[in-house]
Amino acid sequence: MKILPVASLALALLMPLPAAAEKDPATGLVLADGWEAVRNNCTACHSAGLVTQNSGSRNYWLNLIRWMQATQNLWQFDPATEKTILDYLSTHYGVKEGARREALPRDLMPVNPYKADSNS
Ligand code: HEC
Repeated sequence: MKILPVASLALALLMPLPAAAEKDPATGLVLADGWEAVRNNCTACHSAGLVTQNSGSRNYWLNLIRWMQATQNLWQFDPATEKTILDYLSTHYGVKEGARREALPRDLMPVNPYKADSNS
């Protein structure tokens, strides 16, 4: 049974690494349900890079679409297409874990001028 640790080490080394999401080489969009709708509707005016470098909630993406529709001549989508686009974006370019920086340590906070003894 001395062989067991060696065998399990060998097995561990053979385990495939978690697969990175496959991306479309031309746009960099994650290849998953709905990616073509995003390519077809979101890369005419600016590069797909503007899409892939952003991330946020479904509401963030919806607001962005409404802003582009209101001010940047983005066309209207039929409800099914809009749902596909929002599903895709909020799933693959959703809120990042830990995207918000940590709170500053107290001693790096500025003095609070409204606090009675503001020097402490
Ligand atoms: C009709 C043209 C047009 C289309 C189509 C278009 N956009 Fe935009 N979008 C713009 C313009 C113009 C800007 C502002 C670009 C700039 O600031 O350089 C912009 C900006 C953006 C930004 C950056 C916002 C920011 O905060 O800087 C993102 C992300 C974005 N678009 C995503 C999308 C997505 C997703 C789609 C498809 C649903 C899309 N765009 C389709 C015109 C368009």
